[in-house]
Amino acid sequence: MVSAVRRPIIAGNWKMNTTVAEATDLARQVRAAVASHPDYHTEVVLCPPFLSLSAVAAAVEDAPIGVGAQNCYPADSGAYTGEVSAAMLVGLCQYVIVGHSERRGYFGEDNAFVQQKAAHALAHGLTPIVCVGESLEHYEAGTGAAFVTAQITGSLHDLSADAVGSLVIAYEPIWAIGTGHAATAADANTMIGAIRATVADTWGAAAAGRVRIQYGGSVAAANAATLLAEPEIDGALVGGASLKADEFAAIIAAAEVSLP
Ligand code: PGA
Repeated sequence: MVSAVRRPIIAGNWKMNTTVAEATDLARQVRAAVASHPDYHTEVVLCPPFLSLSAVAAAVEDAPIGVGAQNCYPADSGAYTGEVSAAMLVGLCQYVIVGHSERRGYFGEDNAFVQQKAAHALAHGLTPIVCVGESLEHYEAGTGAAFVTAQITGSLHDLSADAVGSLVIAYEPIWAIGTGHAATAADANTMIGAIRATVADTWGAAAAGRVRIQYGGSVAAANAATLLAEPEIDGALVGGASLKADEFAAIIAAAEVSLP
């Protein structure tokens, strides 16, 4: 059962998928699915590619659906060819994913850079979804919790307790992303509990009680209810399954079922 205090948040990370036309269509389908449940308490966020942010924002206008970017560069403007700043995202979205393992892995982003991005997003009034997660090597060696909690302190260290309490963390074990092998609900709950304990140690109990921590990695309609039944898991960051409106809608419905 998810927390009575923290509102569950289900976010769809569309990654480098969908043309503008496809993104618009998918956003409309999700909107239609959510519209048939006006009583839903779960927060829903769609994170399309940058190019489609404007179209998706328009497609979900006045619906209870948020929009997020998948990345940002931590400077307002300047000679950073190909990059997009949080200042440019204001008005198009409310969230921005930072430190996804694909960015850490393929583009060499380290904790210090992720921290700059999170601070930059917060400075512009956007809520960062800060991703952490261990590799298969760490998982098998039993060093996953140490690695992930170090990512948390390393990626958030300069932020205030109030800032940390206001953001979203996504725990995504790398070995579970896109593999069809999600972490077990018990393991995900334990790791998210360890992350929350680290937040409590570093930023205090109030921040730890407020910060929402999602699980991500092969979340699907078939396993969402089991994962979201865990008390520490405040929602999901969904990749592949968020590209199918009916599957994504089923995951949102699972979050509703898990409400106290
Ligand atoms: P997946 O991706 O749901 O396709 O495993 C999750 C993510 O990378 O955010």
